[in-house]
Formats: sequence, structure tokens, C-alpha cells
Amino acid sequence: MSTPSTVNAVAALDGLPISDPASLQDVRVEVPELRPHDVLVRVQAVSVNPVDVKVRSGLGPQQAPKVLGWDAAGTVEAVGSSVTSLSAGDEVWYAGDITRSGSNTELQAVDERIVSRKPASLSFAEAAALPLTAITAWESLFERLRLGASSTGTLAVLGGAGGVGSIMVQLAKQLTGLRVLASAGKPASRTWVEQLGADAVIDHHDLVTSVQAVAPEGVEFLFSPNSTGNVEAFAQVVKPFGQIVAIDDPVGLDLFPLKSKSIAWHWELMFTRSLYTTPDLAEQQRLLGEVAALVDAGRVRTTMTTAIDDFSAAGLREAHRLVETGRTVGKVVVHR
Ligand SMILES: NC(=O)c1ccc[n+]([C@@H]2O[C@H](COP(=O)([O-])OP(=O)(O)OC[C@H]3O[C@@H](n4cnc5c(N)ncnc54)[C@H](OP(=O)(O)O)[C@@H]3O)[C@@H](O)[C@H]2O)c1
Repeated sequence: MSTPSTVNAVAALDGLPISDPASLQDVRVEVPELRPHDVLVRVQAVSVNPVDVKVRSGLGPQQAPKVLGWDAAGTVEAVGSSVTSLSAGDEVWYAGDITRSGSNTELQAVDERIVSRKPASLSFAEAAALPLTAITAWESLFERLRLGASSTGTLAVLGGAGGVGSIMVQLAKQLTGLRVLASAGKPASRTWVEQLGADAVIDHHDLVTSVQAVAPEGVEFLFSPNSTGNVEAFAQVVKPFGQIVAIDDPVGLDLFPLKSKSIAWHWELMFTRSLYTTPDLAEQQRLLGEVAALVDAGRVRTTMTTAIDDFSAAGLREAHRLVETGRTVGKVVVHR
């Protein structure tokens, strides 16, 4: 079967509000040229992350359609000249590269070193919910905080029902000896984090009181997807010599309140490896493979809660609209 020269995609041409039907449009784009390490993937499902919303809304007028989308699951259709780890026909998942054209398309080129085989036990839609948030949670826990099977103490996962929190709670419970507190700001979030295995539920709207109620001595580790205005509270609930890992974009952040307890602050950006083509780029392929094995062993579940069966501009606008609320529980997926 020969590959066509153009395919259907969904693109932004300007940073319009998601209520505007022109904010995401159905377009035709060229099939990408493969670099030596690329695989060409027929995309079956994507999930929408806050980064999709942030990039779309920050755009100015575009010269060419801007294809967004990072999380994806699909089938390898062709491989570049240097690809060794994947073959045509492999069912894969990945979170892509912020510098390249995205997954809201029929055929996407992506570097094999950040792609792994998807969990066999999940549908494409169920799989697409996980890669970006799983990479973020994995790198936060095991690389930034250097936690492992022998780690003990308490971890507070703020935004526990969000995309990242939902997989972090599961990974921390499965792969460390930590007690895991997960934050929820509404009843549906509370129920969800309890189902995912959180040992206790706290409330990010009343962090200090709710942590004191279940961990009066404080916590050794804290994950923050919402740091703005919260550093004073973090300084109260984290123990001396504790550690925080943050993933958000808090402009003008002041970390001085953490000094007297010598609390460490780590940044995690899951695009760092692909942005800088770090020598360990293939670590993301490896960790995605480990997450796939955990899923297939029944130890980790998909975080998909909403599946939109409409891989078009209309379906993706609805997914962006939901994610923009900042209140979603789990993940929103769009699939064919
Ligand atoms: N650096 C990286 O590599 C990286 C990777 C992924 C995401 N991020 C960023 O991290 C943030 C979270 O991502 P996500 O995918 O988890 O988002 P998400 O799925 O949109 O998060 C939604 C959840 O956030 C909770 N929430 C709302 N306000 C909160 C607050 N003030 N404090 C804590 N939680 C709150 C809500 O719970 P309630 O409704 O119950 O309050 C909701 O369940 C975003 O800014 C995203 O861009 C960064």
C-alpha cells in the first residue's frame, strides 16, 4: 500500500478561544519526511494535556497550520533508516517532542527513542491517556526525587485527580514503600484518588490543615502541579531536609520560605530530554516499556475517564474545552 502525500490533521492557525469554531480546524498536511531514527505512526488515539491548551492559546497568527498534540497511541507504518527497536505493525505509545509537529494527525513522525510498544491489554484510547503523564510522574519520582523500592516516609501528591497525579499515585504505591497522600478539591476527585490507592486524601484548598490531620509530623516529599502562592504552605507541611518536585510555570516564584528547613526544590519537565537530545533520550522508551509491563501485569490502570469518539476538529475542541476547565478527573482522550 503506497503512502499518500497528504493526510487529514487538526490544526490551529491562531491562538483563538476554544469556543471559536476556528480555534482548531480540519486541514490536510504533508506526510512528514522520516529522519533516520524516526518511526511513522498511524495515530489511532490521542489524549489532551494542559500543554496542548497552553500552546494553542499562546499562538499568534500562523504561516502554516500548527498541528498540536503530544500523547498518542497508534501503529507503526514505516521506519527510518537507523531504526532498530521497532518495526512496521508494532502498536506503540508515546508523548512526542514539543519541537515537532504533533499527534493530532493521521500519520506522525516520532523518534523511536521516545516510543515504546503500548500495553497489549489496553485499547488505543485507554493507552493514549498515559504516556505524557506517566513520563512526568516517573521522572519526578525516580529521577528527580530518586525514590525506589526501599524508600519510606510520606509523599503528598497535590492535584491527585489530575492527569499527572492519577498516575503518580499508582506508581508511588506500586514501586516505593511510601505512604501516599493525594489531594482532591471535590468529592469526585476524592473518590477517584481513593480508587487509585491513595492511603489518605488531603485538600489542596486547605493544604496545611488537611496534611496536619493525617500526617501531623509533616511529609518528606511533595509533588506540586500548582505552586503559585503555595510555597509558604509547602514550607509548613514539608519536614526539615524534605524535597519538593514541581512541574508548573509559577512566574516570579520565591523559594526563600524553604530555606530554614533546608528543603530542596526540583524541576521536572518531561520534554527536557527531547528538547536537548540528551544522551539518555532512550530512557523514555525504556520507562514507557516498564509502565506498559505494569499495566499488562494489572498493577497500574489507565487513567482515561472521558473518551471522545470523534478524531476531528470538533472532537478535539471539545477535549480542549474540558481540559481548559482545570477540573477534569483523570484524562480526556480523542480516538478514531
Ligand atoms: N513539567 C512537565 O513535564 C509537566 C507535565 C505534565 C503537566 N504539567 C503541568 O502540570 C499541571 C497539571 O497537569 P495535569 O495534566 O495533572 O492537569 P489536569 O489533569 O488538568 O489537572 C486537573 C486537576 O487539577 C486539580 N486542581 C485544580 N486546582 C488545583 C490546585 N490549586 N492545586 C492542586 N490541584 C488542583 C483538580 O482537582 P479538583 O477539581 O478536585 O480541585 C483537577 O482534578 C499543568 O499546569 C500542566 O501543564 C507539566
